[in-house]
Amino acid sequence: MSVRGYRTGESVGVADLWRRNPSREFPLLGLNPDVVGEILRKTERPGIQFILRLARLFGRPLFAMFVVDLDGRVMGTTLLNFTREAGYVSGVVVDSTVRRRGLAQAMLRACDETCRRYRRRYVVLDVLSNNDAALRLYDRWGYRPLRDQHWMYRAFGRGTAPLPPLTGTTRVRPFRRRDGSALAEADNALMPPEVRAVVPRHPGDFRMPAIARGILESDTEAWVAEADGGPVGFLRATRSHLMDAANLTSPVFRRGVAASVMQDLLVTALRWVEAQNAPRVVTEVLAHQVQARPVLDSLGFVEQFGVHTLVHRLAA
Ligand SMILES: CC(C)(COP(=O)(O)OP(=O)(O)OC[C@H]1O[C@@H](n2cnc3c(N)ncnc32)[C@H](O)[C@@H]1OP(=O)(O)O)[C@@H](O)C(=O)NCCC(=O)NCCS
Repeated sequence: MSVRGYRTGESVGVADLWRRNPSREFPLLGLNPDVVGEILRKTERPGIQFILRLARLFGRPLFAMFVVDLDGRVMGTTLLNFTREAGYVSGVVVDSTVRRRGLAQAMLRACDETCRRYRRRYVVLDVLSNNDAALRLYDRWGYRPLRDQHWMYRAFGRGTAPLPPLTGTTRVRPFRRRDGSALAEADNALMPPEVRAVVPRHPGDFRMPAIARGILESDTEAWVAEADGGPVGFLRATRSHLMDAANLTSPVFRRGVAASVMQDLLVTALRWVEAQNAPRVVTEVLAHQVQARPVLDSLGFVEQFGVHTLVHRLAA
């Protein structure tokens, strides 16, 4: 049994593994494991491979994927994405027949080594607050709590309350690229410094990279609420055929923005989602943006999961 990088053609093996070992968030997202295979197959296209190789060459890798190989069979996966500061681990799964043999740890080691190679000082991941096995694994490997977030969803259709009308007092308009710096500044101002050091907001974070859009084959729109001549709130809604639930980016608002402004921006995004015929929409509320929580509650959002973001600080 060995841990190595994902190879072209292994998407079916990965999808099989994920079907045998479904994650707890799959039902909420309405994610079909076959879709995971489909996404991976798309990353194998020559055009995308070229971009990925080029990005690696310039020390700006987009992602890496590790698998556990047992006689050619995929028995474990871990995905590693990169921000400027950190590696972001997700998709950690080990087949139920080969657990407690150190395979997850071997994949975490591969992530650490890759992060060191690309000079990222932190490795970050999200874990459900009730996933005791995973929490123990990460704690043992040296991961420590960084921040908390809550996954919330709102259902649409029969039996759900209609969306309230817009108040008419908020200026909501489409997001423009140049809004990025003011929005990043507003969000960073609310983050505790130790969080900002690891997962700061960058102006470019508010755009959706064309490569992600292509891979996810998604429809997406983004809006800002404007006050005092600048953006004070941001939301992006995305609908992809790859999962049932639509996605709303975690709400970003400037400190102390009025509840009516938050509500108008949310209602604008929710109307778009409703028009896409999505059965529900999922969003994450980050601890430093908890000011949006009462507005989400009043619009019919329900909390589904508590999630801890953990960080592993790599020695230089
Ligand atoms: C969590 C998971 C990835 C662990 O994989 P694994 O290969 O069994 O983990 P390892 O063998 O490397 O475990 C290392 C250590 O983690 C801890 N650990 C792992 N699984 C545990 C469990 N079920 N209960 C308690 N501790 C556990 C132990 O300290 C273990 O060391 P030990 O076996 O010497 O006691 C696996 O259980 C899994 O795929 N679960 C379902 C998917 C999931 O929850 N992924 C995490 C998403 S964030």
